Amino acid sequence: MSAPLPFNDLKAQYTALQAQLDAAAQRALASGWYILGRECRAFEEEFAAYCGAVDCAGVNSGTDALSLALRACDIGPGDEVITVSHTAVATVAAIRNAGATPVLADIDPATFTLDVQDAAARVTPRTRAIIPVHLYGQAATMDEVLNLAQAHGLRVIEDCAQAHGAAYHGQIVGTLGDLGCFSFYPTKNLGALGDGGAVVSRDAELIERVRRLREYGWTPAERYVSQIEGTNSRLDEVQAALLRVKLPLLDEWNERRRALAARYDQLLPPVLIRPTEGTGNYHVYHLYVVRIPSEAGMSRDALRDALAEQGIATAIHYPVPVHRQPAYASLFGDLALPVTETIAAQILSLPLHPLLETRDIQRAAEALDKLLP
Ligand SMILES: Cc1ncc(COP(=O)(O)O)c(C=O)c1O
Repeated sequence: MSAPLPFNDLKAQYTALQAQLDAAAQRALASGWYILGRECRAFEEEFAAYCGAVDCAGVNSGTDALSLALRACDIGPGDEVITVSHTAVATVAAIRNAGATPVLADIDPATFTLDVQDAAARVTPRTRAIIPVHLYGQAATMDEVLNLAQAHGLRVIEDCAQAHGAAYHGQIVGTLGDLGCFSFYPTKNLGALGDGGAVVSRDAELIERVRRLREYGWTPAERYVSQIEGTNSRLDEVQAALLRVKLPLLDEWNERRRALAARYDQLLPPVLIRPTEGTGNYHVYHLYVVRIPSEAGMSRDALRDALAEQGIATAIHYPVPVHRQPAYASLFGDLALPVTETIAAQILSLPLHPLLETRDIQRAAEALDKLLP
């Protein structure tokens, strides 16, 4: 068997930037200030500027970013929030953490993002927000989402955890809706070396509310006094310092992801259904996900095993839709989401990260070519 082709390589990403990352961590460590200090504030300013937002609040994770964004909009018990079932379970966990009720809609079979017509059919008098998920690195159909939200007076909270730097008709995601929520989980397009997250907005007041919520409901003027009920969800200084090293490289690494994705597009056997870039989308390929249709003559799982035998690692994002997860199924009764359920059995994520070589893409594509008709 030839050398393994891993799905991702975080060690290589660290090694490529080791001198700068070590220096940044050292700077934060030597400062003697570890929580909500200069590094976090500087990163918030830099990330807000990158996204074209007015302000940004660093938090502990993408999950917290979403639940604090909901709470900043006063959304909680008794309120319904529409999102997709075909997402990281975190999206739905965040709605539950805020005390609200998730309502799940189906997706578009080509782009894998929210089917806005299906979402529209699920609006009730209790609906307060929509969370479009910019899955795999491309924005949901935001003009339709924003029209629906406007028609019903709903908040739009973007789940940008997989889409740092993606754009929709030229505008970077995170500022299209009311609030944009990011994860800096290490594998993300902008990844920390630990947990982290952020909320951005064009509305400074909403970010101020997130800031209070992330630290027990305190304000800078009144520490130790909780005017509102908050929690502890802060981006620490070391992670912020590391993120400041990586942020200037985000565009270049996104371009590299796009170039590698284009190579897959060229080389994969025709029977595989390639990713579709929606109109006006600048897709940043957090993941390169293909569909294996029945004409492939081989199931997704058999194909995955055959690739693994050749040392080629793949993944499935996600094998079980949220409404079918053991922990959540009882919330959704007999909800049927036909597109979501069909594609869950057909999708396969191929290796893609910015430090991959073109020859790695060739190797994966050749292996698939030999296995498929
Ligand atoms: C679409 C989506 N939403 C939310 C999250 C949650 O982010 P985190 O793992 O930082 O809590 C993730 C990442 O896991 C994600 O992929």
